[in-house]
Amino acid sequence: MGLFGYLLRTSRRPFLLALAASVISGAAGASFIALVNTALGRAGHVPAAVVWAFAGLCVATVVTRFLAQNLLFRLSQGFIYRLRRRLVDGILDTPLRSVEKLGTPRLYSALADDVVVIADALPGLPMVCFSATFAVVCVVYLAVVSPAVALTSLLALGVAVGVYRMFSAYGMRHLGAAREEQDRLFEHFRAVTEGTKELKLDRGRREALAGAALDATATTYRRRSVLGLSVFEGAAGSGQAIFFALIGVLLFVFPAVFALPARTLTDSIMVLLFMVSSLQGVLTWLPVLGRATVALHKIEERLEYLEGAGREKRHDHPAAPADWQQIGFRGVAHAYPGAAGEQFVLGPLDFTFRRGEVLFVVGGNGSGKTTLAKLLTGLYLPEKGAVRLDDREVTDDNRDAYRALFGAVFSDFFLFESLGGLPGADRTAKAEHYLRRLQLDHKVSIVDDRFSTTALSQGQRKRLALLTACLADRSCYLFDEWAADQDPVFKEFFYTELLAELKARNKTVVVISHDDRYFAVADRIVRLDYGQIRADRPGEDRRDRTPEEENSGGR
Ligand SMILES: Nc1ncnc2c1ncn2[C@@H]1O[C@H](COP(=O)(O)OP(=O)(O)O)[C@@H](O)[C@H]1O
Ligand SMILES: [Mg+2]
Repeated sequence: MGLFGYLLRTSRRPFLLALAASVISGAAGASFIALVNTALGRAGHVPAAVVWAFAGLCVATVVTRFLAQNLLFRLSQGFIYRLRRRLVDGILDTPLRSVEKLGTPRLYSALADDVVVIADALPGLPMVCFSATFAVVCVVYLAVVSPAVALTSLLALGVAVGVYRMFSAYGMRHLGAAREEQDRLFEHFRAVTEGTKELKLDRGRREALAGAALDATATTYRRRSVLGLSVFEGAAGSGQAIFFALIGVLLFVFPAVFALPARTLTDSIMVLLFMVSSLQGVLTWLPVLGRATVALHKIEERLEYLEGAGREKRHDHPAAPADWQQIGFRGVAHAYPGAAGEQFVLGPLDFTFRRGEVLFVVGGNGSGKTTLAKLLTGLYLPEKGAVRLDDREVTDDNRDAYRALFGAVFSDFFLFESLGGLPGADRTAKAEHYLRRLQLDHKVSIVDDRFSTTALSQGQRKRLALLTACLADRSCYLFDEWAADQDPVFKEFFYTELLAELKARNKTVVVISHDDRYFAVADRIVRLDYGQIRADRPGEDRRDRTPEEENSGGR
């Protein structure tokens, strides 16, 4: 079983300990039954040693079983943590483009659901070991009592295992199909949680997307899960039936054929009844273990994808030189695959960002501005060409340090409540200073190194994101359509005060903007059009600023 192998690889010691405890517990439990049988046979003349053995086995069975379960509970908690940690590190160490391609719903369903399914199944593993050992010891005891009964029981066990394997392959296929639906289900959940407003406003879409589409996926998921789990239940039922048949054969056929003494028969049947009840314990775990195996395969597939995409190195390499003078794009290109003939290609671009300049990137929607920003900040690795910091190429070995040059507010920014990780012991004072300047001090304060609230308007949240970027004090800033949600007062503040202030502090500022009123504050304006640089001119040069051009470039 995949789960066994995985645990052996990742948590060898505690898992082996738990298994050992359950094997001892199984052996002790079965020996206990054998001892009870023997004592019954002596009818009153039981030596003291047998009584002591009885007490010892009693305690051993219970204690080792408790130990095995307890170890497994601890193991499963550690296991959830480590698996989640591997996934989280995998996401953060994998190139952004590969994570974007996989999509958040798939990662989320692995992090939130698969991990828990596996952890829930772990306590079933010692049960399986317990019962397997129990069965082995019972068969050995039966061999002593009657070799014919032992052989027949072994045969029944073999048939039961064979039938189970046949059923389980079929059941796993359905559970696997249900798991495929789960990713789609999480996509629907995301649409529902993030599109609540739109769905509330539009009954038709709500019925189509949150009703019919969700129902269809949920129905397939439910149908496949029920089928898969039923197959496992069927396997359990057949296992039980095989053992009942075995008991029937012993009761009605054996006495006639083998002329078994009544005492041997009672002994055998009693042992078999115990064996059936212990196997029943395993059978209830089988569907759970089946689902866990499917979930583990899914997580491994995700991890393989993330690892296959190439881990970005995290080094403690030296910081990039603080006095850098320019960032150069040399034939940098990036393509997004699309349907045939619809591929979008940015570049190849040859271009230089100079230290201390305020550079505007302009162009129509979809012209490649944000993609350019991701390449500039080192979030996308150039598919072709190279980015150079002064005379050094940015490579896997120094990209981490290169990224540390940037402070950025993307248009789909994430606002962290915590200021944790930002530099400076005086960050609270600095943050309060910026809150006043951004006129947010009446709304937000800093409490315990956190913003007291982030439940604000989008424009206000963007101001907080800007504040965070400023606290990081980087040498190059990138603002992707930052001013788009701001009122005229803050547009004015941003373009005239903040940009000038950053420039005075020798920062390079790259501003993606559609605010042509403020183009004059730029040192340089670069216009993108279908992924190509169409113009690169000084900011005060207002020649090609026609509204038509402003709206051209993409779609
Ligand atoms: N995640 C993505 N997957 C596939 N294609 C994308 C993705 N993001 C952007 N694109 C494509 O790249 C083009 C440029 O996008 P982008 O750089 O975001 O433009 P801009 O910021 O100028 O509006 C878009 O027209 C779109 O076709
Ligand atoms: Mg954009």
